Amino acid sequence: MTEATTYTRIDGRKIAAEIKQEIATKVASMKAEGKKLPHLAIILVGDDGASQTYVDHKVKACKEVGFHYTLLRFADTIQEDKLLKHIVQLNNDDDVDGLIVQLPLPAHISVEHVTDHIRADKDVDGFTNQNFGSIISRHPLLLPATPFGVMELLRRYNIETKGKHCVVVGASRIAGAPLSMMLAEQGRATVTICHKYTQDLASHTKQADILFVAVGKPGLITEDMVKEGAVVIDIGTTRVEGKQYKNGYAIKGDVDFEKVAPKCSYITPVPGGVGPMTIASLLLNTLRAAELRNK
Ligand code: GUN
Repeated sequence: MTEATTYTRIDGRKIAAEIKQEIATKVASMKAEGKKLPHLAIILVGDDGASQTYVDHKVKACKEVGFHYTLLRFADTIQEDKLLKHIVQLNNDDDVDGLIVQLPLPAHISVEHVTDHIRADKDVDGFTNQNFGSIISRHPLLLPATPFGVMELLRRYNIETKGKHCVVVGASRIAGAPLSMMLAEQGRATVTICHKYTQDLASHTKQADILFVAVGKPGLITEDMVKEGAVVIDIGTTRVEGKQYKNGYAIKGDVDFEKVAPKCSYITPVPGGVGPMTIASLLLNTLRAAELRNK
């Protein structure tokens, strides 16, 4: 028998709202001083429902904080070279501070080619090799948005990472890989990275003081895989279709929240945990990109 603890449900929506308020205040003073306002350009290719929803949230966030934004939409038949030309145009547009291309892209377009074309100082997703590598430099340029949001969430909840055993499940370029580097470098944690070839996943996750999961498999983490009193951060976002859900779908994380939460000291829900923080980081990076360019 394990004893049920009272856990804290980490509220990403509340923290993201606080960050947006802080940014809005900064933007208002930039405006009062007659400065150019931060401008985010968003490229959306195709009509994937989930991507459309994420982009809608990003546009709404720009409006909330007072950023300028440009949304460029292309059919999923657009050729790669044409898309790359638009990226170069936005790279060269002095008014644009931040540029993101919503993923996934159609199969005939290389994510690598696209990312390689985005100027590092406008790469507010933090996807370029330069920004990825700058995590372990003394002066990071623009940090990868999802892990940046996770680190900020821990910081604002006063969850210490220094000397802790952090286990990261999932080693993607967007989340797990950069997060592991940030935990070791900025967080001074001992880090274990698990991925699809890891044997006996539970033997690793059970040792985590802080467990991070970014795989995209709902229900992957069950209560027997988590240490009593652990912090659990769920970065998974999978759209699960079903008639029982409002709008016909629900967003699910990788952790079986109901069963795992009673074992935790802190846990993030999905939705409402890490998700809103990714957008808050995107705004923070856009503000930073604008400030660096205005210098
Ligand atoms: N698709 C899923 N997550 C992301 C993200 O953080 N940025 C972009 N550009 N596309 C995504």
